[in-house]
Amino acid sequence: MLKIWDLPIRVYHWLQAILFIGLVVTGYEFIGAEQAHLVLGLALFIALLWRIIWGIVGSDTARFVNFLPSFQQLIRYVTKQQDHYVGHNPLGALMVVLLIFLLLLQAVSGVYISEFIDGKGILGRNVFRAFETFHTLNAIFLTGLSVIHILVIFVYQLQGNPLINVMFTGHKMMPSNFYQPKMMNNTNALLVLAVCIVLVILLIS
Ligand code: HEM
Repeated sequence: MLKIWDLPIRVYHWLQAILFIGLVVTGYEFIGAEQAHLVLGLALFIALLWRIIWGIVGSDTARFVNFLPSFQQLIRYVTKQQDHYVGHNPLGALMVVLLIFLLLLQAVSGVYISEFIDGKGILGRNVFRAFETFHTLNAIFLTGLSVIHILVIFVYQLQGNPLINVMFTGHKMMPSNFYQPKMMNNTNALLVLAVCIVLVILLIS
């Protein structure tokens, strides 16, 4: 049994999933929950910044450089030449990076069109409207991608690859020729989180 996902990654993942569902629900105007949407959006923005910085300074399996696949790695995975991975598999890694990137764009465009910033004053009305349109279309696209993500994960799970359990416990059964990846201290992750909270508060105040 190896420890694959550290606590920060697991907290980030499940928090992000809950926030995302809350954001989709409160995003509909007829629900009348604009304030809740703003608060959830800021929380997701903080979580994303945390994940991105942790992807640079965090544990081995959290680091983008360790799981962004090369073309050869993708081919090896697709042609089933390698089927065990510590962390994300090459195809999963592409989806993860796309999700994080689009979620970040969603958060940035959300802050830009929110009451926190004078978006119309900064780049003009047309750019403001373009951000609004992007925010709406990207929300639909992200919802579709999330559904695909969840379906694929369930297919793996049903095929006997318990990815969901691993995302809860952090531990995974691996062949004996795999080594334990280096895990960073949770206190470091808390410090990074504190910095992200301060950054977002500074941005909106
Ligand atoms: C109930 C719903 C969900 C389940 C069961 C689920 C399950 C998982 C699992 C098992 C992984 C690890 C995949 C691997 O081993 O390579 C993962 C990763 C990930 N999921 Fe989900 N997920 C859910 C919802 C979501 C949602 C709603 C989003 C975003 C909109 C999301 C975004 C991500 C991201 C970004 C990662 C990469 C985690 C990281 O490296 O930080 N997931 N998910």
